[in-house]
Amino acid sequence: SERSFIMIKPDGTSRQIVGDVIKRFEQRGYKLVAIKSLVPSQELAKEHYIDLASRPFYPALVKYITCGTPVIAMVWEGKDIIRQGRRMVGATNPLEADPGSIRGQYCISVGRNIIHASDAFDSATKEIGLWFDPKELADYEPIAAPMITAEN
Ligand code: GTP
Ligand code: MG
Repeated sequence: SERSFIMIKPDGTSRQIVGDVIKRFEQRGYKLVAIKSLVPSQELAKEHYIDLASRPFYPALVKYITCGTPVIAMVWEGKDIIRQGRRMVGATNPLEADPGSIRGQYCISVGRNIIHASDAFDSATKEIGLWFDPKELADYEPIAAPMITAEN
């Protein structure tokens, strides 16, 4: 089944919205496959955002992600999780984010937008491999799975 890399950024951890983020994905019916708290190294943060390396805000972005407050790195699994994860997170600029989205509910600055979600299958695959060892990814069936996934 499809997987996405979702990460609560340092401002999200600091502002204690971790529980709400997990609750939203859990209650929608997505499965938590991996989770850890860590302070990312410069090397990891730079590689994660390597596609933005030429942008003027890249150094500030790396500094923000590596500021010393932990991030919560997660892998979530389920139907259409990559696209739905982006919708649940909301637009990059929180002022453009739907008020019901995570960014739309909790923030107002593009440079402090509290959460990351993979934007495509290829980036999800790359990011999961970058942040997690394969042994850290769980394989289990939540007890309610049939109630969540039935098509008819
Ligand atoms: P992520 O889920 O974190 O990857 O955000 P995104 O996919 O919605 O946006 P994008 O990948 O284009 O940018 C990555 C991150 O860089 C954003 O989430 C912001 O934190 C930051 N960023 C993007 N654009 C700007 C900008 O114009 N100014 C500043 N200061 N930060 C930006
Ligand atoms: Mg992005």
